[in-house]
Amino acid sequence: MKLKFGIIGCGRIAKKTMIPALNSSEIAELTMVGSRSLEKAKKYSKEVGCDSYGTYENVLNNKDVEAVYISLPIGLHEEWTIKAAKAGKHVLCEKTLTTSFESTKKMVEVCKENKVRLMEALMFKYHPQHKKVIELIEKDVLGELITFQGLHGSPFFEKDSIRLNKKLGGGALNEMGCYPIGASRMIFNEEPESVYCNFKKDLELGGVDIKADVTLNYPNGKVAFCSASFNAYYRVDYSVWGTKSYLKVNRAYAVPSHMKTTISRSIDDTTTEEIVTGPIDQTKLMIEEFCRVISHEKKNDFEKDLLLQAKVMEAARMSDKENRVVYISEFK
Ligand SMILES: NC(=O)c1ccc[n+]([C@@H]2O[C@H](COP(=O)([O-])OP(=O)(O)OC[C@H]3O[C@@H](n4cnc5c(N)ncnc54)[C@H](OP(=O)(O)O)[C@@H]3O)[C@@H](O)[C@H]2O)c1
Repeated sequence: MKLKFGIIGCGRIAKKTMIPALNSSEIAELTMVGSRSLEKAKKYSKEVGCDSYGTYENVLNNKDVEAVYISLPIGLHEEWTIKAAKAGKHVLCEKTLTTSFESTKKMVEVCKENKVRLMEALMFKYHPQHKKVIELIEKDVLGELITFQGLHGSPFFEKDSIRLNKKLGGGALNEMGCYPIGASRMIFNEEPESVYCNFKKDLELGGVDIKADVTLNYPNGKVAFCSASFNAYYRVDYSVWGTKSYLKVNRAYAVPSHMKTTISRSIDDTTTEEIVTGPIDQTKLMIEEFCRVISHEKKNDFEKDLLLQAKVMEAARMSDKENRVVYISEFK
């Protein structure tokens, strides 16, 4: 039996990564696409080879649909996650899940009340290259960890885009900063104790953040430096520096399914070991994890993880606003 997915929002990322992954999965399938415009839904469904289309409400009212993938602008995720949960659908929602910690708690609560699962689509976490990094750390190859540095930047700067629309939840932190922040939590396998963040804002665009620099202080003096920027040379990497070695994951977050990835690890001053992984479809791996958890084949507390991530994201927003170090313990 395949888990039947409906798509809420006929957008770019759904077509580029989610739908091909659904179409190639043995345990998930695309059942219906939904758009604000029926005309658009009809055209899109034809393009992606799906028989059924309609409005967002039609998707939620379709009894065959068991789960929805929400790929709307971030500012609309809460509304449609709550509507989907109340309609009894499991929710796989694009990153950043929502615009505040309070909103995250509300989404989790409504999903729990309606006995559906909620996952934030940070697909990079399912790419096996990170397991290799974690194995190296566990085998003490890197020694004691000192810093994590993660960059997510893109030349992208179309002023009418949802990514630069503050009212729709856009901005560098929400769109891009979530990746290195999530990666630092995964690699350190701990939560930061405090956060300091600075935004560069575009006042012509309503004060949306176009660059976010976030410093996260982890236990035992470990630090993560995470930068996200629009209008930047393309970077989607992270590096980990320890007492015995240093490594860099060159393509850490957005990884096309046909692409191999490389971890470069310093053996000494002049020698570097290259660890190659893939090609692999990280979106498909994420979807299949979601399906296996829903069918009780596996356990994964997605909701706990996304709440922890949301605390850190909120601490970054608050830190910029109040120009101070924000402690994670301030959030309950
Ligand atoms: N995980 C990843 O790798 C990844 C990569 C890129 C983006 N994302 C996330 O995915 C989401 C969508 O990104 P995208 O690049 O696919 O964007 P997009 O192409 O602009 O698609 C967003 C869709 O949302 C719907 N929508 C509803 N209200 C809207 C409004 N007021 N303005 C614009 N669109 C509206 C539209 O669908 P209809 O017209 O059909 O209703 C639109 O096609 C965002 O949350 C983004 O952060 C994730």
